[in-house]
Amino acid sequence: MNRFMLNIATLIMLLGSIVQADTYLIFGAKGWIGSKLTVILEQNGDTVIKAQSRLENRQDVAKEIDAASPDCVVNAAGVTGRPNVDWCEDHKQETVRANIIGALNLADICYMRNIHMTNFGTGCIYEYDEHHSVNSGIGFTEEEKPNFDGSYYSKTKSMLNELLHDYPNVLNLRLRMPISDDLHERSFITKIIGYKKVINVPNSMSVLYDLLPASVIMMKNRLTGIYNFVNPGTISHNEILDLYTEYIDPSFTYANFSVAEQDLILKSKRSNNELDTTKLLSAVSTIPPIKESMVQLFKRMVAAGKK
Ligand SMILES: NC(=O)c1ccc[n+]([C@@H]2O[C@H](COP(=O)([O-])OP(=O)(O)OC[C@H]3O[C@@H](n4cnc5c(N)ncnc54)[C@H](OP(=O)(O)O)[C@@H]3O)[C@@H](O)[C@H]2O)c1
Repeated sequence: MNRFMLNIATLIMLLGSIVQADTYLIFGAKGWIGSKLTVILEQNGDTVIKAQSRLENRQDVAKEIDAASPDCVVNAAGVTGRPNVDWCEDHKQETVRANIIGALNLADICYMRNIHMTNFGTGCIYEYDEHHSVNSGIGFTEEEKPNFDGSYYSKTKSMLNELLHDYPNVLNLRLRMPISDDLHERSFITKIIGYKKVINVPNSMSVLYDLLPASVIMMKNRLTGIYNFVNPGTISHNEILDLYTEYIDPSFTYANFSVAEQDLILKSKRSNNELDTTKLLSAVSTIPPIKESMVQLFKRMVAAGKK
């Protein structure tokens, strides 16, 4: 069997039988990523408590943590903007309140109680530059300073990334352009098939089928520090749309435009980059390369009748 075809969910089940079940308190459990993680943890036999308090309300958060007495806390909460991150440009205080003040509250409260916390962050804090050029295969490592603040959303996430670094109880997983096995509105595939015109740039991306089970392994091992949380390698917009046409909708067509043309129609810039996955693969070696993973994802969609 191709080693990349190993179903990580199955691996987790096996691990679950030998690793003690934990109690997880999840903030943002009703969100897209938080709800998917909840399903995986519950299938694994872990207990999930869905946090009710708002992150910025420190006393409420502290009370809730003390009442739940969790083994691990997860932050899958945050402001991402609807319909997209441009929202954050006009809602700066709300964005800071959730993405910086709130997330730091959580990390700090957990630190004071010696509780492991996992933060679902973003890798959209870098952009290709002369040392990390497109298709060079040289990705940004966890040690490199963010170089992208073209959107207020990314700016807040970048600040949080730096501040969380000083919390030894925190595992900070930097997702990018997450993709699910369905056509959920948050999934990168759904976003780009809905655009009138789309840029065509190779990027690091996160296939949730591969990565959310990997996050459970990392939490079980109580890993801490920053991890680029994407599949190895890059895939371009056109490569994804071509797979979509091949597997899902043969009548689908699309048109490209340049990044400069895209900038003209958006309020804030978007980051394009490749992240280095060496550190992640040393923690969980079974995460397949993005191009291979995307083919498998579309095959699963077809098998599940999601045409
Ligand atoms: N989706 C992406 O493209 C992407 C990419 C990279 C990283 N991430 C990060 O991953 C995390 C989860 O993303 P997602 O796509 O799952 O977002 P989502 O579907 O919008 O869910 C976010 C959740 O956070 C909750 N929330 C927001 N502000 C809160 C606050 N101040 N206190 C407590 N809960 C709050 C929301 O609850 P309410 O609805 O009640 O406010 C919602 O349940 C975010 O931090 C995001 O930045 C997402």
